[in-house]
Amino acid sequence: MKILLTGKTGQVGWELERRLPPLGQVVAFDHASLDLADPDQIIARVREVRPGLIINAAAYTDVDRAESEPELAMQINAAAPQTLAEEAKRLGALLIHYSTDYVFDGTKPTPYLETDPPNPISAYGRSKLEGERAVQASGCRHLVLRTSWVYGLRGRNFLLTILRLARERRELRVVDDQVGAPTWCRDIAVATARLARESAARETVGLFHLTAAGATSWYGFAREILETSGLGASVMSIPSSQYRSPARRPANSLLSCAKLNAWCNIELPEWPDSLRRCLADERISNDPIGATGPPGIRTAVDRVSVSVVIPCYRCVGTIRRAVASVAEQSLFPAELILVDDASGDGTLNALRALQRDFGEDWVKVLALRENVGAGSARNAGWNAASCKYIAFLDADDVWHPRKMEIQHAFMQAHPEVALSGHAHRRIADGESVDAALMQQGFRMVSRWELLLSNRFVTPSTMVRRDVTQRFQAGRRYMEDHLLWLEIASGGLKVARLTDVLAFTYKAPVGDSGLSARTWEMRKAELSNFWYLYRTERLGFVATVALCGYSLAKHMRRVLFLARR
Ligand SMILES: NC(=O)c1ccc[n+]([C@@H]2O[C@H](COP(=O)([O-])OP(=O)(O)OC[C@H]3O[C@@H](n4cnc5c(N)ncnc54)[C@H](OP(=O)(O)O)[C@@H]3O)[C@@H](O)[C@H]2O)c1
Repeated sequence: MKILLTGKTGQVGWELERRLPPLGQVVAFDHASLDLADPDQIIARVREVRPGLIINAAAYTDVDRAESEPELAMQINAAAPQTLAEEAKRLGALLIHYSTDYVFDGTKPTPYLETDPPNPISAYGRSKLEGERAVQASGCRHLVLRTSWVYGLRGRNFLLTILRLARERRELRVVDDQVGAPTWCRDIAVATARLARESAARETVGLFHLTAAGATSWYGFAREILETSGLGASVMSIPSSQYRSPARRPANSLLSCAKLNAWCNIELPEWPDSLRRCLADERISNDPIGATGPPGIRTAVDRVSVSVVIPCYRCVGTIRRAVASVAEQSLFPAELILVDDASGDGTLNALRALQRDFGEDWVKVLALRENVGAGSARNAGWNAASCKYIAFLDADDVWHPRKMEIQHAFMQAHPEVALSGHAHRRIADGESVDAALMQQGFRMVSRWELLLSNRFVTPSTMVRRDVTQRFQAGRRYMEDHLLWLEIASGGLKVARLTDVLAFTYKAPVGDSGLSARTWEMRKAELSNFWYLYRTERLGFVATVALCGYSLAKHMRRVLFLARR
């Protein structure tokens, strides 16, 4: 699918350009390459690109200046979306358009619903309202997303203004009688990408509110910025009457996002959490790859040098969910390798469909002729990988959206570590993954600790590609544990991150699936010790002691299962 994006240099547009590639080929325009004030240009560009999805992130956003340029604001915020909508309708494309809390007058004491009557009190608000109405009236497939108080580390916004002023002055005066939800532009882009993916197949039409959770005033936002960034300036609250500006702003900008949550289970994080992530963002390495192509066509993307490998065996029902959790990462892995483990059912077709949907430049599909266990499938993906790190995921599990960002940053900061894993949690169908505040703690794991128990589930692990050990071919049980042991036995460093970054839908040990075969697994553990002994990486006494300990654990497990 081709995606036409406008406003690629804006806050939301910049993030979108980096979130959309898994959905298709992104053709992104800035103001110079597509001027929304010129309807002929809009029509020409859309007809050239022939997109299946149009995302309009461009807008006239200078709220105060719009008071003196209402016609221009109307042209860009109302007439241009109308033209885009008409063109989308011609092509049968989906149009995603953004609107604002400023369509309301702010007199309602509680958060605004999509059904509340708008009543803008500024020229900007009026132009945005006309824009959303034009899109809705056009009859095209559309999503209109109203958001609020957008900020990020680029462009013009309240966060950057406060950071600048705090460096220039000792005391800031900030309005305390307007409440709203400051919303990080990256959260908007990530949610938009997910909505776009989920809407592709449906008859989508709708107006939704999309803002961060929680509420604060501009004063509260300023205080949190100063506290989080450790800047020393103090902040004094003032009423709006003491801050003169050409445009009036609503006193209550809060938008209820319950409709969106009910429709597709999307809920943005609490605003202070996102603010912390945004401010920490500068410190996270992005190591961009790719080259800049012709203007308008996006080829340069910030992707982290990680190859994600998913062994796929008869997983038609779950693989899309797993891949979506990779595509929703706050930092993209550079490639995704899906390995069909000779499933013999519709799995290979499902993988090819994912490759088409998410783009052949991002998804690679390998088809194995013979099924000799997940370890061999992972090895095939590892051997085909081109990135600095390999991260493994299983087809029936999912990741936390920040897994890649956190674990990759850790591996980059600790080049001596060859293997890292992290905590995981079991999750029920329909349950959403934890968006809890990340602690980003870690500790080194000794070889002895690994010998005593398998510290990592495979979907939690990231390994350096230059590690020479591999999963032992042909093994079906505990081959992952053996690999961790071989890595640690080779003198390489292993670490465990404390955050829960993987979620598994599998039943606990003993209930079903592979792990139900507890004796098979125990035998595999014993054979791991025997193998290490035979290859002279474990002494005789240690081997006997570990086998005894393993058998004792087995007896305890059997008694536990018998008592249930
Ligand atoms: N910012 C907020 O607080 C806020 C709040 C609620 C809703 N929204 C809505 O959210 C959406 C995204 O906002 P944002 O904060 O990402 O906006 P932004 O950072 O101000 O970016 C707007 C983009 O539109 C481009 N643009 C302006 N005039 C244009 C024209 N005539 N033709 C083509 N491009 C043009 C700008 O390019 P140049 O800079 O080169 O002109 C810029 O890239 C907008 O619909 C906005 O109304 C924003």
